[in-house]
Amino acid sequence: MNDVTATGATRLTRLMQRGADFLGTEYAIMAGAMSWVSERNLVAAISNAGGFGVIACGAMTPDLLDREIAATKALTAKPFGVNLITMHPALSELIDVCANHRVGHVVLAGGLPPTGSIDRIKGSGARLVCFAPALALAKKLIRSGVDALVIEGMEAGGHIGPVSTSVLAQEMLPTIADQVPVFVAGGIGRGEAIAGYLEMGAAGVQLGTRFVCATESIAHANFKKAFLRASARDAIASVQLDPRLPVIPVRALRNASTELFTAKQREVAAHLDEGRVAMAEAQLQIEHYWAGALRRAVIDGDVENGSVMAGQSVGMVTREEPAADILADLLDQAAEALSRRAV
Ligand SMILES: Cc1cc2nc3c(=O)[nH]c(=O)nc-3n(C[C@H](O)[C@H](O)[C@H](O)COP(=O)(O)O)c2cc1C
Repeated sequence: MNDVTATGATRLTRLMQRGADFLGTEYAIMAGAMSWVSERNLVAAISNAGGFGVIACGAMTPDLLDREIAATKALTAKPFGVNLITMHPALSELIDVCANHRVGHVVLAGGLPPTGSIDRIKGSGARLVCFAPALALAKKLIRSGVDALVIEGMEAGGHIGPVSTSVLAQEMLPTIADQVPVFVAGGIGRGEAIAGYLEMGAAGVQLGTRFVCATESIAHANFKKAFLRASARDAIASVQLDPRLPVIPVRALRNASTELFTAKQREVAAHLDEGRVAMAEAQLQIEHYWAGALRRAVIDGDVENGSVMAGQSVGMVTREEPAADILADLLDQAAEALSRRAV
């Protein structure tokens, strides 16, 4: 390593220090929870490589989560987190499972935490990380006692908000980065971007898409192949066609099911117009369209009829490789970028 590269690596370590201290890791890089993908194998591989793996609880029952945490602990002695969805009907029991296992970090996704959940999670001794979709909500969450925030732009895979990562980072980091550690997510495919967000005040970053094709990821070979073939423009956000039928936008690779979703919305809207279906039933039909679709793609490998959730960074996923190598590449690119800034 020459002097300039060493300077870049030192700067990177310094910029990541706060986030790494918060996570208890070597690097302030979180692998965002991905339902069906982020299970024991990928989570342990990320954490063993010095990053921070997060188990996706998704629709797991408390029993299943209990087993998944135990199995992950058997594969790594390093810190990892658990992602819980606020709408889960058994949220309270899931919090208990995390507390029993003394999970160090709970990441709450899916909207504002319900009353009491913040205190219960923090009362268990865990650090609480929440998603903040806008500055006002970030301030509210900080006042409520959350320990860290993720700000995630619409470039990300999965459920998304309407604003890009670069705008969220500019709007929010100057105001909140000194109050709690903030992790930037959405569209990060290379280390240069990590360096940029760290320099803007982020404590660290969170990536999802980039880790799907890790060797240790149990995603079906078809799912990984779809990622390797896709470019940024294939990762499209679902579009709501009718103001009466709400659609929570999800970014996924364009396939037969995304085309059919458009047709389904038209059909249900027509049924509404004709009075053949009541509003509540119509809305349920739209909501249920994607039920089980991610599992169908990730586990069964049906990448045409399932939901291949992917972010716009999918074009930068070019091969299947160990999680440790993905992390090493990102870190090298970040250090190199910082070393160029140092001269
Ligand atoms: C296949 C897939 C499934 C995901 N599932 C979840 C989830 O269950 N819970 C969650 O909070 N975020 C979920 N996400 C979002 C990731 O945790 C992460 O924040 C996001 O992927 C970061 O953006 P990127 O994809 O541009 O790297 C998912 C993302 C993908 C690609």
